[in-house]
Amino acid sequence: MSDLTQPIAQGFAQNIAQIVYLISALLFLFGLKRMSLPTTAKRGLSYVVIAMLSAVLITFIHREVQNNYLWMAMAIFIGGSVATFLTKGIKFTETPKMIALFTGLGGGSAAALAAVEIINLDYLSDTVKYIALAGALIGSISFSGSLITYLKLQGSIKGLIHFPMQQWLNALILVVAITFGVAIVLNGGQADVTSLVLFFALSLSLGILVTISISDADTHILIALFNIFTGIAIGLIGYVLLNPTMMIAGFLVAAASLKLTLSMTKSMNRPISNVLFGDEATDDYSNLSLDSSNTNLIARELQSNDAAMMMAFAKNIIIVPGYGMAVAQAQHKLWEMSKLLIDKDVNIRFAVHPVAGRMPGHMNVLLAETGIPYESIYDIDEINGEFDSTDVVLLIGANDTTNTSARNDQNSPIFGMPILNVDRAKNVIVIKRAEGTGFSNIDNPLFYQKNTGILYGDAQSVLGKVVGELKKL
Ligand code: TAP
Repeated sequence: MSDLTQPIAQGFAQNIAQIVYLISALLFLFGLKRMSLPTTAKRGLSYVVIAMLSAVLITFIHREVQNNYLWMAMAIFIGGSVATFLTKGIKFTETPKMIALFTGLGGGSAAALAAVEIINLDYLSDTVKYIALAGALIGSISFSGSLITYLKLQGSIKGLIHFPMQQWLNALILVVAITFGVAIVLNGGQADVTSLVLFFALSLSLGILVTISISDADTHILIALFNIFTGIAIGLIGYVLLNPTMMIAGFLVAAASLKLTLSMTKSMNRPISNVLFGDEATDDYSNLSLDSSNTNLIARELQSNDAAMMMAFAKNIIIVPGYGMAVAQAQHKLWEMSKLLIDKDVNIRFAVHPVAGRMPGHMNVLLAETGIPYESIYDIDEINGEFDSTDVVLLIGANDTTNTSARNDQNSPIFGMPILNVDRAKNVIVIKRAEGTGFSNIDNPLFYQKNTGILYGDAQSVLGKVVGELKKL
């Protein structure tokens, strides 16, 4: 190529790259919008995959990556292989662990990009340097914090660590880290490496210190919170690198995760300040001893033929799935049973609590997997007024999300958490294996009510028996 045509070709390539970045960013927007509805979620996800792939591939023609093709290909190959290996064999219930890991790596990548920009580019304006430092700080906190969350979910780190003046120490570390950041910018020229190392060391330790003090019961909120951090960090670095895809995708992730965080804290009646700065009452459910006030109470046992009879002659049934259904993988048997009841003209609806199961949308995904129509699935606000007029409620491996002590017992660790008003139905059938409690490790007075009967056993096999009985009727 001649000396004259080379810059023209390069300029053309850069324009193409910017256009593809912009199209990718728009695809992220459309994809996310579609992912908000179960009916369009799959298509939305494919838009996001295409957007990500185009943004990565077009980067190969970017001016600044010339001569680094081998490094880029190696990074894509190694990262892709590790991600495939890690995600291939995991169970659905282990997804939060992987989300924590990938959130952390996203934050770490943003921080690493910021470090490169700050070290090498003394021609950055001060404002852009501050933005890069903010991205580095937030990304580093998300990186170390998410990795600790991953280890907590893995079971390698248990419980929470509290020590005197912990919040003050965290605040001090934050202030000192910011001071080093400001010093780096004010010094001008190339960044002082010692200040930069200290800045990163403090940011990373802040992520660790904040995370170790948060209750295991709140790890799912923490994952969503770090997702916000990673999104913001990527958005900020996208601004530094003048990359619209990174900017839009990062801030979209942050906004979506903020919505999720707020929805989870509302569903559990746990203000974010309680999650971050501790709350004696709910610090760690796993350390609570079982509520002994119900030890003299005996739950009434039901047999599968009684349950089948009750449901076959009911007009309205609301089915409430919970974590136990996921463990037993009972969703397909549940739908088989529901179809038999629908054939008998029973009105079947499914009620999903926002924190049922162990991850956001856990129950919705399982129910959708079976082909249950989305119109039959209701969230807490839509269905809570309907229980009073319901003949039978069938609870499948759900506990905390229906625990009446959250409504009636001020001393309960989950007091104030919104629950499904299952106890108000005419009859309640509960499927559970034995006397086990739920995630919060507290007994549920609902199980001892006069209108409650328990079908003991693994949810899938119990539902199998009920299906058998229904076929005989
Ligand atoms: P849980 O309160 O955890 O109750 C699960 C119930 O399922 C237990 O009563 C258990 O009793 C039963 N069970 C377990 N395995 C079973 C099986 N194979 N067959 C039949 N029953 C089985 O469930 P939930 O109502 O869905 O509440 C979710 C809880 O997890 C909430 O406290 C929530 O805050 C927390 N959490 C939620 C999330 C998100 S984002 N969804 C994330 C982390 C934590 P037995 O042992 O007697 O069978």
